[in-house]
Amino acid sequence: MADKKYIINYEEFTSASQMTPEDQEMVAAAIQAQKGSYSPYSKFQVGAALKLENGLVLKGANQENAAYPSGLCAERTVMFFAGANYPDIPFDTLAIAGADHGVLCESPASPCGSCRQVMAEYQKKHKKPFNIILVGSKRIRKFHCVDDVLPFIFDSLTVE
Ligand code: THU
Repeated sequence: MADKKYIINYEEFTSASQMTPEDQEMVAAAIQAQKGSYSPYSKFQVGAALKLENGLVLKGANQENAAYPSGLCAERTVMFFAGANYPDIPFDTLAIAGADHGVLCESPASPCGSCRQVMAEYQKKHKKPFNIILVGSKRIRKFHCVDDVLPFIFDSLTVE
């Protein structure tokens, strides 16, 4: 038996103004993407902005449905759009911003497990880690790879 530790490194900012201009753009894009949210049931608006390696910034937002499980999270709407339309371009940064009844959450909304697993798939597909920025009004967190939001990623090829 061995006691082990898994250390996750991330940056935390109290304001977007502390971030690089490129990251500030991603924060603004994620907040702007909330406008596309269709969330009549939860009233929780999530915006996701995805920058591709070529600089293109795509936006997605959560889409709900009267049959609840038929809806989809913001992150997956934009990642699947990117996967379908720009299949060969790796991801650079995914920024996510959640708002409750139209008010940006103070503490950043954190992606659900299914979205993290989908992030892991694209990181693996493109063989390139990408940044994840979680936006809140009082705190913004930046992670530098999917492993840091999904430790011990499931990957059928690396199960030992
Ligand atoms: N939601 C997202 O868009 N992303 C997440 O990572 C978690 C939850 C959405 C799904 C649903 O429309 C609403 O937030 C409330 O759960």
